[in-house]
Amino acid sequence: MSLPEKPVALLVDKEGDETIALREFLDELGLEVRWAKDGETAYNILDSERVDVLICELRIQRIDSMRLLRVARERNPEVCAVLLATHGEIDLATEAMRQGAYDFQLKPINYPKLAAVIHRGISHQRVVDRVSVMEERLDRKFGISGLIGNTPEIAALASRIRQIAPTSASVLITGETGTGKELIAQAIHHQSRRRDEALVKLNCAALAEGVVESELFGHERGAFTGAVEQRRGRFELADGGTLFLDEIAELSLRIQAKLLHVLQGGEFERVGGHETLRADTRVICATNRDLRVETTERRFREDLYFRLNVVSIHLPPLRERRADIPLLVRAFLDEFNRKHGRKVTGVTRGALRELVAYDWPGNVRELRNVLEGVVVFTEEARPLDVADLPADLTSSAVGTVTLGITVGMTMAEIERRAIQATLRQAGGEKKQAAAVLGIGLRTLYRKIKEYGVG
Ligand SMILES: Nc1ncnc2c1ncn2[C@@H]1O[C@H](COP(=O)(O)OP(=O)(O)OP(=O)(O)O)[C@@H](O)[C@H]1O
Ligand SMILES: [Mg+2]
Repeated sequence: MSLPEKPVALLVDKEGDETIALREFLDELGLEVRWAKDGETAYNILDSERVDVLICELRIQRIDSMRLLRVARERNPEVCAVLLATHGEIDLATEAMRQGAYDFQLKPINYPKLAAVIHRGISHQRVVDRVSVMEERLDRKFGISGLIGNTPEIAALASRIRQIAPTSASVLITGETGTGKELIAQAIHHQSRRRDEALVKLNCAALAEGVVESELFGHERGAFTGAVEQRRGRFELADGGTLFLDEIAELSLRIQAKLLHVLQGGEFERVGGHETLRADTRVICATNRDLRVETTERRFREDLYFRLNVVSIHLPPLRERRADIPLLVRAFLDEFNRKHGRKVTGVTRGALRELVAYDWPGNVRELRNVLEGVVVFTEEARPLDVADLPADLTSSAVGTVTLGITVGMTMAEIERRAIQATLRQAGGEKKQAAAVLGIGLRTLYRKIKEYGVG
């Protein structure tokens, strides 16, 4: 949000002659004036629009001006907050300055001085706005937001994304689990001209075949039992925007044919419908399988594969770009310190050596999860050491994990533990975990959702 032509001033004060004079004064300065005579109105205004200037008495009846200041700064960190104080309140006023107030004025109000302070506060915000617009532009030009890494692989990836993003071509993203396929899909959408329209997602593996079809293309009323209303599919919902189809290899051959048809002409029908619909939807697909193998084994249509593979992005596994690990570790430590209120200062050389040496079957996601777990348990301000890292990461004895099952546990709890441990061992690779557990992939998805694991 940038500063509007007419900045908004919020005046919090009880009704009175002085308030009327202040309102007129702010109005004459060219500000859009909002007036709140109680705290609740003030908070509502702060929640509903950007406030550029806040004028409030330091000690105002039944309103905590410090809290108001804090909320105003949360909404707009550069807000020009001026507190009006009396001589006896200088200590409190100094405290308010420490808490981020822009200035305080001793009563009676010196209007020319107040005008100067407000002018300075607003021009300061204009400068900050300009800088952040510039930073955003730089970000668009040189980096892909959220994508961490400085190896040549990541640089090549970033430049490929920049080439691909502005077009409307379908994109196929391949790579092992946790390598960042969804992150890249988001980046492509946000770098494209479609960025203000919807990015709609569908995970093809998580749904039964019939459901996938109506989720994708929608259905007419009465198309099947339970179709009590007409429903628009994700293709329509993403009209003008982007549709991200995750785990595309899980689509049945029949739906693959329907997808190919849409990709060729942009036309489709709802399930149970005869009307031909059109949607201007960009499709981005992802899979962690090798689609070439899937085509030779006739599980994936070759024509669809060729169509999708025109523009493709392959994400290398983390173990093939280990040089990115230190940077990722640093970024994730910062993120989780902030999230969990921790002060972990970094990692020791020994711990970093282990982190770089480990093979990361679950790639960046696994690294991220491991670090979050460790940060949560490290309350002291110190670097992480080898002993802080999970044992199966530092020892080569992978294979036996104890589940901690005791008599009295429900089957559901035992199942939850088994699924969680297996997923962890498989580095988050769901297909592998399902195979180890001897259950279908869809069943695994259902249980992950049911138990909230993963
Ligand atoms: N290069 C990267 N920089 C920063 N974060 C990353 C990077 N790659 C992946 N991540 C993070 O790792 C996690 C997993 O990424 P993502 O969900 O995109 O993986 P995926 O390839 O879609 O995995 P899956 O095949 O299991 O669906 C996310 O939290 C993502 O933000
Ligand atoms: Mg994914």
